[in-house]
Amino acid sequence: MRHLFDIVDLSVEEIDELISVAEDIIENPDKYANACNRKKLATLFFEPSTRTRLSFEAAMLELGGSILGFSSADSSSAAKGESVTDTVRTVGCYADIIAMRHPKEGAPVAAARRTTVPIINAGDGGHNHPTQTLADLLTIHREKGRTDNLTVGFCGDLKFGRTVHSLVNALSRYSGIKFVFVSPDELKIPDYIKEGVLKQGNIPYTEENRLEGVIDKLDILYMTRVQRERFFNEADYIRLRDCYILDNKKLEKANSDLIVMHPLPRVNEIAVEVDDDPRACYFKQVLNGKYIRMALILKLLGVKV
Ligand code: NCD
Repeated sequence: MRHLFDIVDLSVEEIDELISVAEDIIENPDKYANACNRKKLATLFFEPSTRTRLSFEAAMLELGGSILGFSSADSSSAAKGESVTDTVRTVGCYADIIAMRHPKEGAPVAAARRTTVPIINAGDGGHNHPTQTLADLLTIHREKGRTDNLTVGFCGDLKFGRTVHSLVNALSRYSGIKFVFVSPDELKIPDYIKEGVLKQGNIPYTEENRLEGVIDKLDILYMTRVQRERFFNEADYIRLRDCYILDNKKLEKANSDLIVMHPLPRVNEIAVEVDDDPRACYFKQVLNGKYIRMALILKLLGVKV
């Protein structure tokens, strides 16, 4: 039985295979319409979500399976003090596969100790978000035609942004990748990623405070929201939240084949006017998220089409 806690639980070959299955699903949806007949996916969300939870559910429904679950800790027995391990063990009696989101880093690993079904990490605190990374990689592949030889800029909250951590980890395993990290000093990419991933892999990167000076160097600009819920004090959040706002003026200097990505939800960091720019890809990421989750569910359930 395979789980997915961290993007590095999948080899590069497996990720490339998921991308090609997702692309086949996009081309031939009917072929997959009954692939998960009589299978059930549970979504256990102890933290808010729109896209991740609903895309998992839409993915399972489009595979012909069914869904159950909860969308807040308050409506589960967590509110009575049940441990996440017991909750997950219980749900494993009803479902064939579980996608869970939890505010504590490492919660899915702890939960999986007692489960009999595959567990997918749908976001654990400020740590990892591997299925968003799969959606991001599918988007990059579809938009740029490759996942290697790219200069990738990340902008915003690089400290608490779990989608950033997982995508940096994933892209670091492809050749010819360079990173440009744009953040305020307080929200820099964590040392454990610099030491354990970037320096270890000899991956070139720079750290900047201003987006304007580097935007013309990028093939991809990955914007992120300042993660309010992970701040210890509201004053710091208010001071940092509007550090970067991407608008049409800033995009004037960027390459014509840049792609602008964002895991969403956006707050202020991308002006709505940018949505009409052909380089804006964040709603394409949303749709791609459903297809790649279909491919992942098939893989973890061992369903061959
Ligand atoms: C992200 C998350 O939950 O980490 N959203 C998502 O899953 N698409 C990004 C965020 O909340 O800022």
